[in-house]
Amino acid sequence: MDWTDRHCRAFHRTLSAQTLLYTEMVTANAVIHGDRERLIGFSSFEHPVALQLGGSDPDTLTRAAAICASWGYDEINLNVGCPSDRVQGGNFGACLMREPELVAACVAAMKAEVGIPVTVKCRIGVDEQDPEVALDALADAVLAAGADTLTVHARKAWLQGLSPKENRDIPPLDYDRVYRLKQRLPQVPIIINGGIGLLEEVEQHLAHVDGVMLGRAAYQQPELLLNVDSRLFGGSDKHPDAFAAVEAFEPYIAAHLDGGGRLHDITRHMLGLFTGRPGARAYRRRLAIEGVKPEAGLDVLRAAVDEVRRAEERRALVA
Ligand SMILES: Cc1cc2nc3c(=O)[nH]c(=O)nc-3n(C[C@H](O)[C@H](O)[C@H](O)COP(=O)(O)O)c2cc1C
Repeated sequence: MDWTDRHCRAFHRTLSAQTLLYTEMVTANAVIHGDRERLIGFSSFEHPVALQLGGSDPDTLTRAAAICASWGYDEINLNVGCPSDRVQGGNFGACLMREPELVAACVAAMKAEVGIPVTVKCRIGVDEQDPEVALDALADAVLAAGADTLTVHARKAWLQGLSPKENRDIPPLDYDRVYRLKQRLPQVPIIINGGIGLLEEVEQHLAHVDGVMLGRAAYQQPELLLNVDSRLFGGSDKHPDAFAAVEAFEPYIAAHLDGGGRLHDITRHMLGLFTGRPGARAYRRRLAIEGVKPEAGLDVLRAAVDEVRRAEERRALVA
């Protein structure tokens, strides 16, 4: 949430053709009652894109899933991993790890309604649960209900005492637990998630499971997406480097500006580009200071990118 909005996804799609992109979690009630264009609107070139729903009432989820399927999403993913208080108050997210049968009822109801894959993203357990028992129980229940894929954030969530941010770092990662799930259910597509930041690591995980979900790494260092099409999908990369990718993204940004949108709506998701390169700090500074002004246009982005280009040229001269 707050990160993979449609502009972020449009940017990431510019970097990689084949990666499956996920929306932010949207509650089923919001889909039914809210401003749909704002909440679930997306651009056709974002495909393949999965919409993540939050909820725990089978009927409400089914109505929401049907709406999302009719909007053209490629997959409905149910959130069984979010630990925030707000979500627990609504009895969904990670606390559903304690209620496999309810999650299964939600999955079965959605599967009966929509023709696209219905998938689940979960933790290995919550609080005092034994992950050996809890993950199997959740997996078996939702798979029996027809879930097509299981994505597992390979750590527990502690529902009392840790903030959502702490719940992404403090409970220890247990990749072996996810590998064991795959060994027990070899025919089920299992995607692993949590703390994975390099394509080398992705490749290592792919020896054990079917897919890898990147959260923070993809957002904070989006440049790594430039190579996944060739390296992981056996295709060819869309762009030779980040400079070319930004250029290719300009028409999307221009259309947003023409429609009255702000540069920062989009460039806030691009701050991580060029991370670790000379000039990256100047790039970020320009976007953070000039890019937030209401009148900021593409020239600000171009000037920011030029900071990196010039810094690289200077470094090449010195070398
Ligand atoms: C700002 C932020 C928002 C997140 N929002 C969601 C969300 O809406 N739904 C979800 O399933 N996970 C959400 N997550 C969790 C990530 O999808 C992922 O499971 C977690 O960060 C661990 O993976 P990583 O180490 O690759 O980031 C969020 C993470 C962050 C940092």
